[in-house]
Amino acid sequence: MSTFEQIDKLKKLQEQALMGGGEERIKEQHEKGKLTARERIDMLLDKGSFTELGAFVTHKCAHFGMEKRKYLGDGIVTGYGAIAGRQVYVFAHDFTVVGGTLGHAFAEKTCRLMELAMRNGAPVIGLNDSGGARIQEGVESLAGYADIFLRNTLASGVIPQISVILGPCAGGSVYSPALTDFIFMVDNTSYMFITGPEVIKATTYEEVTKEDLGGSHTHSTRSGVCHFAMPDETSCFDAIRELLSYVPQNNIEEPPFVPTADPPDRADESLNSIIPDNPKESYDMYKVIRSVADDGRFLEVHAGFARNIIVGFARLGGRSVGIVANQPMALAGCLDINASVKAARFVRFCDAFNIPIVTFEDVPGFLPGTAQEFGGIIVHGAKLLYAYCEATVPRVTVITRKAYGGAYCVMSSKHVRCDINYAWPSAEIAVMGPDGAINIVFRKELAEAKDREEARKKLLEDYKEKFASPYIAAELGYVDEVIEPGMTRVKLIRALESLRNKRDTNPPKKHGNIPL
Ligand code: HXC
Repeated sequence: MSTFEQIDKLKKLQEQALMGGGEERIKEQHEKGKLTARERIDMLLDKGSFTELGAFVTHKCAHFGMEKRKYLGDGIVTGYGAIAGRQVYVFAHDFTVVGGTLGHAFAEKTCRLMELAMRNGAPVIGLNDSGGARIQEGVESLAGYADIFLRNTLASGVIPQISVILGPCAGGSVYSPALTDFIFMVDNTSYMFITGPEVIKATTYEEVTKEDLGGSHTHSTRSGVCHFAMPDETSCFDAIRELLSYVPQNNIEEPPFVPTADPPDRADESLNSIIPDNPKESYDMYKVIRSVADDGRFLEVHAGFARNIIVGFARLGGRSVGIVANQPMALAGCLDINASVKAARFVRFCDAFNIPIVTFEDVPGFLPGTAQEFGGIIVHGAKLLYAYCEATVPRVTVITRKAYGGAYCVMSSKHVRCDINYAWPSAEIAVMGPDGAINIVFRKELAEAKDREEARKKLLEDYKEKFASPYIAAELGYVDEVIEPGMTRVKLIRALESLRNKRDTNPPKKHGNIPL
């Protein structure tokens, strides 16, 4: 064969590989409102930056006629490219090839890519669209999944791992995403379940649609499995690019600096009147977050789940921060099981990837009730406590109003190693709110008082004067400074600047035993 003929053969093979499962299957994929694996990669990455690896890999399976069904690439496209000029590794399941299912060769390609990403310290983005374990490959498929799960786990906390669900994902193809840092889903085309509606019907007699069982709405609002639910694939890829702009390439790097024209000394008078006079009234914590963030920009994570706590990324003076904030507009900002787990996971991500944490606190306590107690709020609440306790990244807390009970300790108090703690003059730091406290401490006095209402009023005033303020905590040094609300951005940026060279470590150990 001449060199020309050899090159011609190569080109033909390349063309064949690009066609995945063939024209008909590509058409079907488009008719379902989905893009092909390669189209997705092109859309996600910087134009022309993708280099494919393993395009000619095929499976070796000879069961159930599979020897006649070989496709170059074996149903997964792997390689590297760039997002905003920064290197990323990507794999994309090709649903046009045997439903994007995973066999031995497919799994090996995935593992090789993950290993490259780890060695080179760059994020992995997985575009998932797969029917799970390829039945014809039997235990080799299961082994392949286990190989991937192991690498997901070893890569956790070393490089950011992002999973994007872009089709029906069942069985093994949901467990790998579950081990990664962030899961994106697309409305009406993404599904995640361990067992689908048919199996559920046969085993438990429950009837459920696949949308209700594992659609983006379910996982972004009920189960909390999904961090970002996006209306279509285009907006999904935009959101991934935005997310990566806040995070470093790996656990040794710092997050990227993004210059801003928003002045670091910008005060915002509107915050001086945001706290209502009535402590039972709520206000919108998003306003506080957007007021302090560079250009008012905030990328919320888990927006539809456990809305009583807000988590997400912003920049202050051009530097990334993770924000954790109680939201008084949902469940009065109480900490419950879902809020604790949501925030704990976010705090741990930030800590693993050198992203400073800013906490805004207005929390009347843990949510009371049998549902919470029976559901294990003790152990779930402890997750958030544990996450804050072990976090060694720079931390700043602002108590805007209530900091009651155990929730005061949990929400990045000085005692759990927060570096700088601020309070607004409206802060109320106490074991519990005035009404509850008076009823417990002065039960006898109130029962014996001639004018019970008058006595209660007096006791309440005394309590509020003593405890419903930040000044006792400030006297004790638990609060570093009581600040004017309008100056919050200025104070935060200065505090974070002072913490830029912070070094702190935890005692040497194999790993802790977080209350899972
Ligand atoms: C082999 C499979 C397959 C599988 C789909 N296909 N799933 N082949 N093994 N697991 C094939 C189909 O036979 C079909 O082949 C092609 O992929 C496209 O599938 P369709 O069913 O035509 O597509 P659609 O109607 O869109 O439905 C997609 C689907 C459905 C929802 C994913 O195929 C499905 O429910 N598949 C089974 C899902 C599942 O139970 N997976 C095993 C999970 S257990 P042709 O011949 O038409 O090209 C698991 C174990 C690991 O993963 C656990 C580790 C913890």
